Order: sequence, then structure tokens, then C-alpha cells
Amino acid sequence: MTTISPLRASDRSEWGELWEQYLTFYESELDPAVTEDVFARLVAGDGYLEDLFVAPDVRGGGVGSALIAQVRTAATDAGAHKVYWLTQSGNATARRLYDSLATDTGFVHYQMEL
Ligand SMILES: CC(C)(COP(=O)(O)OP(=O)(O)OC[C@H]1O[C@@H](n2cnc3c(N)ncnc32)[C@H](O)[C@@H]1OP(=O)(O)O)[C@@H](O)C(=O)NCCC(=O)NCCS
Repeated sequence: MTTISPLRASDRSEWGELWEQYLTFYESELDPAVTEDVFARLVAGDGYLEDLFVAPDVRGGGVGSALIAQVRTAATDAGAHKVYWLTQSGNATARRLYDSLATDTGFVHYQMEL
């Protein structure tokens, strides 16, 4: 059974293991101070969903869709009218899940580094 609960300061160690796997997935490296800042913002509970990452050994069991459902409930309860997110166009696994739950708006995201 999947239980979803708010992130707490005491989850730092387990969260850190998932975060390291997430950075590896995106072939990314971050200054440890950035990681601490992200965790502090997530624990504060007033930020937006940073990203979705499910431990590889439990994928395909409905955790990803349960997390999205929880975000939907929290956003509805907060009076929001819409939940939206970005993904990489080539992330077929994630997009299969998203296509089953939400609408692909067709927008493509561009940015400039400053
Ligand atoms: C994308 C990701 C978050 C999905 O998480 P997940 O927990 O595997 O998602 P779900 O289990 O809810 O859904 C995925 C698949 O499992 C299926 N599934 C759902 N419940 C199931 C169950 N009880 N038993 C078997 N399969 C199930 C879903 O139908 C879906 O199947 P499909 O791919 O054939 O359509 C996960 O693959 C991941 O962390 N990937 C790496 C990081 C990443 O890409 N993140 C997204 C960035 S935008």
C-alpha cells in the first residue's frame, strides 16, 4: 500500500538518497548548498512541486499516479484552478503516465541562460 505524507525534516536522509538518484537520472551535479536549499524549501511546504521521482524498485506500482493525485487534491483544496508541469519531450515513460492523467498542451519550453 502507498502512503503519502508531507515531507519532514526527519526525512532528510531518505530524501537525500532519492535526490542523488534523481540527479544521476538527469546527469546533473549540484553544489551541496543548493541541495540543502531545495530540501529546506520542500520542508517549508509552501513551494511548488519540484519534480517527480519514484525509486526504481517500486516503479509501475502506481506511486507516480498516486503522487500526482495527491498534488491535485492539495491544489484543489488550496483553491487553485489548474495544475501544470513540464517534462522532457523524450521522456516516454513519464509521458505515458502523464498522457493518461492530463492534457498535453503542445507548448514547447525555451530558455536563455543569463
Ligand atoms: C515517471 C515516474 C515518476 C513514474 O512513476 P511510477 O510510480 O512508475 O508511475 P505509475 O506506477 O503510477 O505509472 C507508471 C505505469 O505503471 C502502471 N501501473 C499503475 N498502477 C499499477 C499497478 N498496480 N501494477 C502495475 N502497474 C501499474 C501505470 O498504468 C503505468 O503503466 P504504463 O506505463 O503501461 O502506462 C518514474 O518512472 C520515475 O521516477 N522516472 C524517473 C524520473 C522521471 O522521469 N521523472 C519524471 C520527470 S518529469
